[in-house]
Amino acid sequence: MEKLTTLGEFIIENQSSFPYSTGELSKLLNGLRLAGKMVNHEVNKAGLVDIIGGVGDVNVQGENQQKLDVFANDKFIQAIKNRDIACGIVSEELEDFIALPGSDASNNGKYVVLMDPLDGSSNIDVNVSVGTIFSIYRRLTPKGTPVELKDFLQPGSAQVAAGYIVYGTSTMLVYTTGNGVNGFTINPATGSYYLSHANIQIPETGSIYSVNLGNYVHFPEGVKNYIKYCQKDENDRPYSLRYIGSMVSDFHRNMLKGGIYMYPFDAKNKNGKLRLLYEANPIAFLTEQAGGKATDGSKRIMDIVPSEIHQRIPFFCGSVKMVEKLESFFE
Ligand code: AHG
Ligand code: MN
Ligand code: MN
Repeated sequence: MEKLTTLGEFIIENQSSFPYSTGELSKLLNGLRLAGKMVNHEVNKAGLVDIIGGVGDVNVQGENQQKLDVFANDKFIQAIKNRDIACGIVSEELEDFIALPGSDASNNGKYVVLMDPLDGSSNIDVNVSVGTIFSIYRRLTPKGTPVELKDFLQPGSAQVAAGYIVYGTSTMLVYTTGNGVNGFTINPATGSYYLSHANIQIPETGSIYSVNLGNYVHFPEGVKNYIKYCQKDENDRPYSLRYIGSMVSDFHRNMLKGGIYMYPFDAKNKNGKLRLLYEANPIAFLTEQAGGKATDGSKRIMDIVPSEIHQRIPFFCGSVKMVEKLESFFE
């Protein structure tokens, strides 16, 4: 049998290729991988709500059943806190950032973590894939001082690591530390993640476009015209439309098969819907590391300097040729 690499082994083996590595990032990633397993277990039970009780019910331990996004939020925060490596967290579920007290009152952690604990949450009730997205930066303020807002408001190009877990037909963790993108799949028999997708490359072009066409009438002209192009019957077209409504899953498919994901601004969502810090930036980092492109329509996503932690941004990413074609419709 071929030798299998677990995620734990991979993180340790690759630690030395990471500049300034002290093993702290590895510990942090290990915390995230563990929380991912707990959320995976809970997501797998979601279909059993009628049998074991739904949100608001009291379970056998006498605890209230939480909504899965709250559950995921709690598990990831706990996992990050336990490792004592991060000094702050931003989560989609929390209005303000959390400043972590370190093992002493001041904070010696050197990283901040930003996350969407459960992406695509409207899909949970119907047994469709959801995910967790995370993004990690080195803090700007000195170690030993409390974390500040500016530690979180860094451009995506400063990310040291980013990734996601997709709770799908199989559960996978996909991440980058700036040396390419690797994917690991949980073997339910052992509960371990194994390297299943080494050095993922987004095909240069593809035949899938992913967008919520329900918002079409409100889209900017450039996007409308690109969509018409995708639908045109010519050469390799029409393309196929695939839209799950869970960006992690839509992106994961497009990354493996080649495609473009779009969430433009529209009349309802003047700045788009997706969040720059914990949706667009981590996915943009993965996209570029896999050879693709991510833009807001005029600027590279990772060059944008954020001004608020929950800032929204129009988002287009995927196969480089497809994104460039889209951009030509904006000119
Ligand atoms: P979340 O569940 O974290 O709020 O994110 C949902 C996001 C994203 O995952 C998805 O692609 C998009 O919202 C879908 O939005 P529409 O239903 O407007 O298409
Ligand atoms: Mn989301
Ligand atoms: Mn979410």
